[in-house]
Amino acid sequence: MSEKTIALVTGANKGIGYEIAAGLGALGWTVGVGARSAERRETAVEKLRAAGVDAFGVPLDVTDDASVTAAAGLLAERGLDVLVNNAAITGGMPQEPTVVDPAMIRTVIDTNVLGVIRVTNAMLPLLRRSAAPRIVNMSSSVGSLTLQSGNTDATGPVSAAYAPSKTFLNAVTLQYAKELAGTNILINLGCPGYVATDLNHFSGYRTPTQGAAIAIHLATLPDDGPTGAFFDDAGPVAW
Ligand SMILES: NC(=O)c1ccc[n+]([C@@H]2O[C@H](COP(=O)([O-])OP(=O)(O)OC[C@H]3O[C@@H](n4cnc5c(N)ncnc54)[C@H](OP(=O)(O)O)[C@@H]3O)[C@@H](O)[C@H]2O)c1
Repeated sequence: MSEKTIALVTGANKGIGYEIAAGLGALGWTVGVGARSAERRETAVEKLRAAGVDAFGVPLDVTDDASVTAAAGLLAERGLDVLVNNAAITGGMPQEPTVVDPAMIRTVIDTNVLGVIRVTNAMLPLLRRSAAPRIVNMSSSVGSLTLQSGNTDATGPVSAAYAPSKTFLNAVTLQYAKELAGTNILINLGCPGYVATDLNHFSGYRTPTQGAAIAIHLATLPDDGPTGAFFDDAGPVAW
């Protein structure tokens, strides 16, 4: 096992995930670049290495059990300290509940929720061997029922799939925190803010580097840090 801290970031080939990988790499960590496309993965790994990051590629489609199992096998040789579940999709807009295609919702949940569960459970045996395991689940303030019911315009478009998928992810993360209480594993949710990426056709006003900051903060929490909590750069986000 390596003396260096080893992290896996899912969906690290672009957007916020890429910048999370770059930021953790800048700390001197070894970073696994989880990505489903070989070409996009290798391009990202090369770019990170050119920036001085100790990066390696991890073939990973979070919706595919065999892919997730293989990724865990690849990481077993190195060990794993930190898992950042970043990969997600919106499913495409518009997605008003009165006309939404249930099949699309299924795909979004499979990626944004079941994908996190699949990857987390596959990686847990490795994380349990770490001295300071951390799990960071990238959520969104659009998953906040408090904000969604508060009549604010800070909650994105009407969304029957993406926003509820983040609410579901928040709820599942709390259950992980309950089960893992008493272990040294800290598991938290981060909201990156509204970031210009492919996910929103670059309509966000924050940079991916700014969006990555909360994940890097949660990935580097001290042993007495919080668990089962939901943060953005400004502090706790309402459930
Ligand atoms: N951008 C925002 O304003 C914003 C706001 C709140 C929360 N977030 C959250 O932040 C995280 C990153 O979003 P982003 O804006 O950086 O999005 P993005 O630029 O669209 O990147 C999403 C990443 O997830 C990957 N991905 C999607 N499905 C996957 C699958 N089945 N298996 C493996 N990887 C998969 C994509 O890979 P491909 O290149 O292969 O598609 C890509 O690398 C997400 O969890 C998102 O919900 C974003």
